Amino acid sequence: ALAPDFALRLVAWQRQHGRHALPWQQTRDPYRVWLSEIMLQQTQVTTVLGYYQRFLERFPTVRELADAHLDEVLAMWQGLGYYSRARNLHRCAQAVRDQHGGAFPPSAAQLAGLPGIGRSTAAAIASFCFDERAAILDGNVKRVLGRLLAFDGDLASSAQEKRLWRHAETLLPAAEADMAAYTQGLMDLGASLCSTRSPQCLLCPVQDLCEARRRGTAEQFPVRTRK
Ligand code: ADE
Repeated sequence: ALAPDFALRLVAWQRQHGRHALPWQQTRDPYRVWLSEIMLQQTQVTTVLGYYQRFLERFPTVRELADAHLDEVLAMWQGLGYYSRARNLHRCAQAVRDQHGGAFPPSAAQLAGLPGIGRSTAAAIASFCFDERAAILDGNVKRVLGRLLAFDGDLASSAQEKRLWRHAETLLPAAEADMAAYTQGLMDLGASLCSTRSPQCLLCPVQDLCEARRRGTAEQFPVRTRK
C-alpha cells in the first residue's frame, strides 16, 4: 500500500542520505526548533546558520527574546529580510511568555494559534520536538507530494490546497514511526533529489511509488496557475 511504503522508505532514506548535522537537529527544545523554522521559511540554510548562532547567543531562551526591545530583535535580524518575520517572532515570544507560562505549547494545534506560526510550521515543530503525527506541507513538500500523487489540482486554489493537505495526512506513517526522520525526510527530498527543474528520479527512494515518475511527467507537478 502506498502510505506505509512511502513512509518506511522515506524514513530509511533520511537516515542514510538526509541531513543530520544541522544545529537545530541537535535539540528538541521547541524554542530553538521554532527559531530555525521561522528563519528557514524564506532564507537558505547556509545563510541561516550564522544568524541562528548569533541570535541564540543574544537570546538563549524564549523569555529573553520576549523581554527584549523590538528594535534589538530587528537589529539581530538585519540582513535576513522579510522583517514581518522578526516582528511576529517577538510577538510570538511574548505570547509564549504571557499566555503559556514561558513554554511553547506541545501540540501542532496550539502552536498554530501563535503569531507567525502557520499550519506547516506548527506541524514541523510538533513532529520534531514532540513526535506528533502532524503533516507538513511547505513549498518543497507540495512538489514532492504533488509528484508522488500526480496531483493535478491547481494549488493557487485554496480548495485544492486543502485536498493536498488531506493527502499529506493520509500519507503520515504509523503511530510508532520516527516522526522527526519522516518530516526531515520530506524536507530533504524536496531540497535535493525532487528539485523543481531537474528531479533525479533514478536516485529517489520512492521512484517506483511515484505516479508522475511512472508517467514521465515529474516536471509538470505541482500545477500552479498565477494568482
Ligand atoms: N527548511 C525548513 N525546515 C528545515 C529543516 N528543519 N532543516 C533543513 N531545512 C529546512
